[in-house]
Amino acid sequence: MPVMINDDRLQFHLHGRNVSYIFHVMENGQLGQLYFGKKLRNRADFSHLSKKEARVASSYIEDDPSFSLDLIKQEYPGYGTSDYREPAFQIEQPDGSRISNFTYRSYERMKGKPELPDLPGTYVEDEDEAETLVIHLEDAYTKLSLALMYTVYHDRNVIVRSAYFKNHGDLTQEIKRAHSTSVDLPDADYEMLQLSGSWSRERHVHERRLTPGVQSIQSTRGTSSSQHNPFLALKRPMTTEHTGEVYGFSLVYSGNFSAQVEVDHYHTSRVTMGINPFDFSWKLNGGEHFQTPEVVMAYSNEGLNELSRTYHELYRSRLARGMWRDAERPVLINNWEATYFDFDEEKLLNIAEKAKETGVELFVLDDGWFGKRNDDRTSLGDWFVDSAKLPNGLPSLVRQVNDLGMMFGLWFEPEMISKESELYRKHPEWVIQVPGRSHSVGRHQLVLDFSNPEVVDYIYERMAELLNESNIEYVKWDMNRYMTEVGSLQLNSEQQAEVPHRYILGVYDLYERLIAAFPHVLFESCASGGARFDPGMLYYAPQGWTSDDTDAIERLSIQYGTSMVYPLSSMGAHVSAVPNHQVKRVTTLDTRANVAYFGAFGYELDVTKMSDEELHQMKQQIDWYKENRSLLQYGTFYRLLSPFQNGGNETSWMVVSEDQKKAIVGYYQILAEPNPGFKRLLLHGLNPEQEYCVSGYEGTYFGDELMSAGLQLSSGYDGSQTGGLEESGDYSSQVFVLTKSGQLTDRGEKS
Ligand code: DGJ
Repeated sequence: MPVMINDDRLQFHLHGRNVSYIFHVMENGQLGQLYFGKKLRNRADFSHLSKKEARVASSYIEDDPSFSLDLIKQEYPGYGTSDYREPAFQIEQPDGSRISNFTYRSYERMKGKPELPDLPGTYVEDEDEAETLVIHLEDAYTKLSLALMYTVYHDRNVIVRSAYFKNHGDLTQEIKRAHSTSVDLPDADYEMLQLSGSWSRERHVHERRLTPGVQSIQSTRGTSSSQHNPFLALKRPMTTEHTGEVYGFSLVYSGNFSAQVEVDHYHTSRVTMGINPFDFSWKLNGGEHFQTPEVVMAYSNEGLNELSRTYHELYRSRLARGMWRDAERPVLINNWEATYFDFDEEKLLNIAEKAKETGVELFVLDDGWFGKRNDDRTSLGDWFVDSAKLPNGLPSLVRQVNDLGMMFGLWFEPEMISKESELYRKHPEWVIQVPGRSHSVGRHQLVLDFSNPEVVDYIYERMAELLNESNIEYVKWDMNRYMTEVGSLQLNSEQQAEVPHRYILGVYDLYERLIAAFPHVLFESCASGGARFDPGMLYYAPQGWTSDDTDAIERLSIQYGTSMVYPLSSMGAHVSAVPNHQVKRVTTLDTRANVAYFGAFGYELDVTKMSDEELHQMKQQIDWYKENRSLLQYGTFYRLLSPFQNGGNETSWMVVSEDQKKAIVGYYQILAEPNPGFKRLLLHGLNPEQEYCVSGYEGTYFGDELMSAGLQLSSGYDGSQTGGLEESGDYSSQVFVLTKSGQLTDRGEKS
């Protein structure tokens, strides 16, 4: 059993494949932490893992100077008695006190994992996959109960945690903070890795050495944001992609979050993660409850790649849902960068027809098809087709695209409203706003009040009608501005700080209703590119638009960082035109595809303007991708060379099939080097005993050779004007296919 309990000592040992998590009930009735890390054998008593020791100048409980909460590793600590560190929660009571004392009452264990009400979460398909332990605690004074829920998967290296408060009294209590997890690691010899950036450069890898005090990332923007992803890892300084110890913390949530590590004066590192307590509070009336989102805590002692693999496998198969979860994702063409707002039916059909000839499977109509949306100043909220652009209506366009043999996809921005819209004229009160204050706009638009169920109902009806009247099989759900002047006219003054969380619950509710009503639709989440690319979204939309930046070279960093947590099947990756619209860079069609192959592949350019030669090349790319798609979307991914290290001139990654008979390697060079040194790429994840053919190479190589001696890259450099551009020029790239010896087909060859 993955949960082992010592009933006499009240010690709880959760263990997964290679991870143990141990805690106990302390003498004051609260929960203390004993261990989180590499799997330990079970034993009768683990209390020796927490050595108490009195220290000068600490506050302590009653007569025991060694029992100071400031010196003890705790499970879900509060503030106000003898611990001065960042607490996991805080509750303000009617008498003004903010002190709580949650003590142990009982535990419950169950097979599998229960769903979190109204929130996204990981799940099981077979109840023997995992076991859940719920610890019930109570604060007798406030009559609040607290249930801490832990799930451990038998064969994975994760512990999933969340917290649930319930008010059993009559008085209203106010939750000021309620994190999802708190972990006290016994030393501070770590580097904190975070995925940070901005619009068009999301999820770049940043690392910093822990130092005393609080180091944190957060979002106050209403979405998880492109500034910081709700993820952090703590790695040992010597940990690499392939070796060493690392802990991951990933929050399954799409709104304001905070993630932080506090290093205290005894070098303990306290990690807390959950809904951002800044500008948050939640009224809990008698009988009401509050459920936090969940955090997936992962452990690896085989480096970052192994940590990522743990997240990829879990999120791909036990967070993403629905019929698209395991299905090969269609190759799509999106008209956004091809036309922006300037299109009509004929233009769209011309694009669709040409794209179909090259093998594209899904045509996506992006922004601009509704209301009077000829630019980004108007019409959000008016989800009625623009008959000036599409006089025959949407069903007719969809039919014509279907008649070409393609699926049809449609863009929405359900959470937004333009001031210049019918909807705003009718319902100005449906906007997130603070009475008496002006509205800031972002991209000329305002945010709908999704904390108001009436608004969510209305948008559901509009979307459902459109999805019912045409054969729409894909929806791109966009969200293009952060929140400001946060307030709701339908909530009372005491609940205004609840708006951001209630808003996200409204978004989840709309998603849930749509996926239930239209289970065949593939949803792709988007927020100005990747400003809400988080595990919460993955529960509803199995893929996301990774970034508005479609430049192949920029994408190396973005996709590399994103892959720390998110599987390739979740990353929308498109080939776009050159000069690239975001950075004006010119790269070859080959390099653009060689980067985009490692994701949910598509095109976003005007195919009607491509030359015959380019169209031919595009067709070859699509044929090749389809042949290798299941491996590229669902294979085991390894990062080999980082764009964030060693000057960042090279990036490399690879995917390996489950049976290790096939692998695909991508290698990318940013700037050319004259007369370069010899380069060997050390591959990973292969079967050492297996003999492989490598496309473009003579003879065969054993897996152990490729992993230990490496694949020698040909530089293509001859110092002359001709030759070698693909392998050695600026922005050059190569893709190698490895197949079990004797299995290499002509079509499989690619370099
Ligand atoms: C932002 C998205 O990220 C783009 O892909 C595109 O859909 C635009 N919005 C449309 O307004």
